[in-house]
Amino acid sequence: MKPVILTHGGAGRPTPDAPESEGARAEAVKACAQACEAGTPWLKSSGSDVALEAVIAAAMVLEDDPRFNAGTGANLRLDGSLELDASVATSDGRFAAVACLRATKNPVLVARALLTTPHVMLCGEGATRFARQQGFAEASMVTEKALKRWKAARERLASGRLRPYEQGWKNIQFHGTIGAVARAADGTFAVSCSTGGTSMMLPGRIGDTPIYGAGVYAGEHGAVCATGHGELCIKRMGAFRVYTRMAQGLHPQKAIDLEVADFPQPYEVGFIAVSREAHGMGATDGYMPCFALEA
Ligand code: GLY
Repeated sequence: MKPVILTHGGAGRPTPDAPESEGARAEAVKACAQACEAGTPWLKSSGSDVALEAVIAAAMVLEDDPRFNAGTGANLRLDGSLELDASVATSDGRFAAVACLRATKNPVLVARALLTTPHVMLCGEGATRFARQQGFAEASMVTEKALKRWKAARERLASGRLRPYEQGWKNIQFHGTIGAVARAADGTFAVSCSTGGTSMMLPGRIGDTPIYGAGVYAGEHGAVCATGHGELCIKRMGAFRVYTRMAQGLHPQKAIDLEVADFPQPYEVGFIAVSREAHGMGATDGYMPCFALEA
């Protein structure tokens, strides 16, 4: 089977106060390409679990890039705190996630460490303590840009000048979750996903990223990673819905297009997906930096 890796940098339309320049869009796609390149050596190697290693290597590149809402540069909660969600899943049924993890540089590595335990999910204080026990040092990932976005979100909330999709606080823009899916030569699949959440959220809020079947899913027919409005993606079981369509024989692109089209407006969603024979990527109005690379 031809190995391939796909990455994305989050779905979300540009807004009047945060317009997206052509240059910034091209740079974001370039970063997704670099993340794919970090994963391909694994897909070319003959070790075990190479699909999982590939999606972790790719996710780390995007977590470390402050332009994306994951790891370094992640969005702040309304109280100014920073909490991170991340997950990994493989086609042989392994899954692990962390939610509301604090002050840890690469949440996706903590999710992978959890794969070695009987648990599938840890959150908050427990997740953070587990990270430290596993040797992941305390780190600050708060950037100037994240602080600016946080101040702007609080001002919008205080003034009531919410964006159309923030009415009642409602739908939030700037998701910017990151993720990767991969198919290895041996026909195994894996997915990774990592996020700082949305732009307006309470401490303790958990989105789709660490939820099996919502943010990520992998099985014998492929792997899927979601981005976008986490609450709706949980309720719709977005990643599983795309996967189910692929299992029924639909091309991943068609499976994604159907779910994006069905997703209630004005909420935004995006997916990357890989099956045995093909791959696909797509988001609401096409706003999602992404890349695919065959190894
Ligand atoms: N899709 C990321 C989130 O809603 O947290």
